[in-house]
Amino acid sequence: MSSLSVAIVGASGYMGAELIRLLLQHPRVELAAVYGRRAAGQTLPRVFPQFSGVLTLPLEEFAPDRAAERAELVFTALPHGESAEAVAALRQRGATVIDLSADFRLRSPDEYARWYGSPGHAGHPAPAQLAEAVYGLPELYRRELAAARLVAAPGCNPTASILAVAPLLARGLVAADGLVVDAKSGVSGAGRSPALSTHFPEVGEGVRAYKVAGTHRHTPEIEQELGRCAGRPLSLLFTPHLVPMARGILACVYGTATEAALAGGQAVLQQALEEAYRGEPFVHVLPPDQLPDTAHVRGSNRAHLGVRLDPRTGRVLAMSAIDNLVKGGSGQAVQCMNVLRGWAEETGLGATALFP
Ligand SMILES: NC(=O)c1ccc[n+]([C@@H]2O[C@H](COP(=O)([O-])OP(=O)(O)OC[C@H]3O[C@@H](n4cnc5c(N)ncnc54)[C@H](OP(=O)(O)O)[C@@H]3O)[C@@H](O)[C@H]2O)c1
Repeated sequence: MSSLSVAIVGASGYMGAELIRLLLQHPRVELAAVYGRRAAGQTLPRVFPQFSGVLTLPLEEFAPDRAAERAELVFTALPHGESAEAVAALRQRGATVIDLSADFRLRSPDEYARWYGSPGHAGHPAPAQLAEAVYGLPELYRRELAAARLVAAPGCNPTASILAVAPLLARGLVAADGLVVDAKSGVSGAGRSPALSTHFPEVGEGVRAYKVAGTHRHTPEIEQELGRCAGRPLSLLFTPHLVPMARGILACVYGTATEAALAGGQAVLQQALEEAYRGEPFVHVLPPDQLPDTAHVRGSNRAHLGVRLDPRTGRVLAMSAIDNLVKGGSGQAVQCMNVLRGWAEETGLGATALFP
């Protein structure tokens, strides 16, 4: 069985480390090269001691020519803005790219400019590549991903929120107007670079909301995809929270129950989720007496979902727990690779949660 040569750009970050961990368990992949910026010149075990005795690859300075020569498929895990340039250079050299940044997730260049633009960078930095990007959520885009050459893998907040409520919107059980997404995520979501706002004593004993009232950059991405499910554009309120744990995200999506949901009750909501995700290898709708918990998906590519109708207020609560670094990031990217290579989606991703 021939193996696929892959490389990782941004291998010295959290997404990079998680990609390496997952790819080491993948039977059809050979890790050909890893690239870092400040970490370039060091060996992997020096940067990530968890790989001591397993891998001695050196982290190199990224050069697109060399990377495209050595790898057929490249994962890019750089900050937004930085990723676009690397992706464009790799695509121009024929490599297939799975990008973990936000640079290719918004379809409209104007929306990208609005949320990610800066005075020096008014438009989208790589519009040609934006046009070919496929949104990397296999549960919604499996067919398109099979032929993709550039995948825009969604981040943790959009993955958790979209999976929770997409089938309910698509089936007209939740109103498209007035959705509220309340997400609680672990500190690794902010990446590996130290900052005061993510310093242990500053987050260890508290919980706080951040980037509230329509200011978080994941808002338009969630709106874009849920609008597609609802069949029309929508706007929603997204409130992310930082909680004192390393990994995990729990999204609670609140919506107004439609007549159909009120008439069918809890059973129709449960059935809608179960039907939508029947046969999905990673999305599990919990039985009505269980609730999603990040501890039960930690380290795995699994999403646990639950739904409740509150007939008293006429509201629906759709819940989802994932590991932000796996189903919300690197695991999803590996799942996308499996889809586009025509391999079983579970390949290399079979692990259940690291629990307790
Ligand atoms: N963390 C999550 O839960 C998560 C989930 C989904 C998607 N994402 C997205 O994935 C990407 C990577 O996230 P992360 O959490 O892995 O971040 P991270 O831990 O901060 O790592 C960032 C990586 O990019 C490199 N880098 C930083 N600035 C650079 C620049 N100006 N030019 C070139 N390379 C640069 C770093 O290299 P050095 O350290 O060697 O300088 C490092 O390898 C981001 O776009 C993020 O939004 C993150």
